[in-house]
Amino acid sequence: MKFLAWTLALPFFAEAAPTLATTSEACTIKNQRKAWHTLTRIEKLAYITAEKCLMTLPAKLGLKGPRTRFDEFQKVHVLATESVHFVGAFLPFHRYLIYAHESILQTECNYTGAQPYWDEPLDAGNFSSSVVLDAVTGFGGNGAGLSNCVNDGPFKDYVNAIGPFQQITDHCIDRRIDDCASAQAASKDFRMVLAMVESVDR
Ligand SMILES: *[C@@H]1O[C@H](CO)[C@@H](O)[C@H](O)[C@H]1NC(C)=O
Ligand SMILES: *[C@@H]1O[C@H](CO)[C@@H](O)[C@H](O)[C@H]1NC(C)=O
Repeated sequence: MKFLAWTLALPFFAEAAPTLATTSEACTIKNQRKAWHTLTRIEKLAYITAEKCLMTLPAKLGLKGPRTRFDEFQKVHVLATESVHFVGAFLPFHRYLIYAHESILQTECNYTGAQPYWDEPLDAGNFSSSVVLDAVTGFGGNGAGLSNCVNDGPFKDYVNAIGPFQQITDHCIDRRIDDCASAQAASKDFRMVLAMVESVDR
């Protein structure tokens, strides 16, 4: 299974926005992240529209490769890859990247919702039938052909300049779903990973 590096995979692993302070004041701005399958059709379309907006805004950071704000997130992920995987910074880094992505959807693309996530255990063993991959109210389905280009859904025509890996080459968004491998997204596997993290934290 290979999703567009972080847009699909990581935001859907995210749970809540980082909480920085211990304060007794009540929240005035609610930013509740919800699972994709619980969103209304209108909420789903609003998220997709915001993501497509990010794909049209010009890049600002001066990094090599990105044409759009969307590409910049992917590039930052590529640049950080070697230092933020297989180390303790893994979760904080990805949470922060997702938080930045969510904030920019809200501040630059007028998105009023929160970053949704994929409740993967619901679809374990059957990712290809997930509502997340719907062609209209989701991210499009499986890739096709030798290049596994996603050829339906809202992002089928996006020309991505970042990757594979460190390369800068124009290519489609590709996806190859392996329903068998997706069985490992079952709740028991999540519980196992959490138990491992907790045992290391102690
Ligand atoms: C967001 O809203 C502001 C204020 O209405 C508007 O000027 C701006 O063009 C909007 N941005 C996008 C990307 O739609
Ligand atoms: C996968 O999901 C689809 C749609 O909900 C369902 O029809 C199918 O039986 C499921 N397949 C498996 C192997 O669970």
